[in-house]
Amino acid sequence: MDWGMQSRMARLIPPETGKAFFLAIDHGYFLGPTRSLERPGETVADLTPIADALFVTRGVLRSAIPADTTPNIILRASGGTSVIGPSLEDEQLLVTPEEAIRLDAAAVGISVFIGSEYETQTLKNLATAVNEYERYGIPVMAVTAVGKELEKRDARYLALASRISAELGARVVKTYYTEDFEKITSTCPVPVVIAGGPKTDDALEVLTFVRDGIDKGAVGVNLGRNIWQHYDPVGMATALRAVIHENADPKDALDLVAAPPVQG
Ligand code: 5RP
Repeated sequence: MDWGMQSRMARLIPPETGKAFFLAIDHGYFLGPTRSLERPGETVADLTPIADALFVTRGVLRSAIPADTTPNIILRASGGTSVIGPSLEDEQLLVTPEEAIRLDAAAVGISVFIGSEYETQTLKNLATAVNEYERYGIPVMAVTAVGKELEKRDARYLALASRISAELGARVVKTYYTEDFEKITSTCPVPVVIAGGPKTDDALEVLTFVRDGIDKGAVGVNLGRNIWQHYDPVGMATALRAVIHENADPKDALDLVAAPPVQG
């Protein structure tokens, strides 16, 4: 691995713990103004210092994230579809390596929709991105996406999707937490990060699935809504950091999250 690639991977997965905390705020690329991300700069101002990297589109990065806060950036590089369009899966590769370099990206993220009508197209997006970005020492993170077919999120499917992503050259794979998570990590030769899943206000539930995923081989998380849609985003991010980087027990980390607001 060349020096630039090693350096970027170490920015994403700090060698002190070998674990990673990615904060995902890329949702607007197909959802538009998602709740709590209406003004993304305000939402993440206190969160970026807690995470290791920010998964974000170039538009939000340029318009809302101050460069002097120097977060490590994972640039959302695939897209071109919307939640109201005919097919979420019909993604293209939208960002060039020159743009990623201009934005000082530590990595780029590309979605693949395996098993969908757009399987070949999105896998080709991933392979093309690997061809282009590896030339400049920029790692590609594959996002194993399921579109609206949420029932696909079982270990068998996600292990297949994660392994194929790694085979095509992804340096990191982002996939959903599921039961038997070790079936995914044990057959994926590159680091796996856990994606968020449905939003819940139950902090312990989130901290527990993250603990379980890491204990079963995940290198960390790429989480969004369960942090910035929570009633205590900074508490959630701090608790997650403790679970990820300090090997904290979820029940102990829960002390870092404020008590639920009293319902009036
Ligand atoms: C959206 C994404 C998100 O980065 C990923 O789903 C994590 O966010 P959340 O925790 O809110 O699910 O890839 O396409």
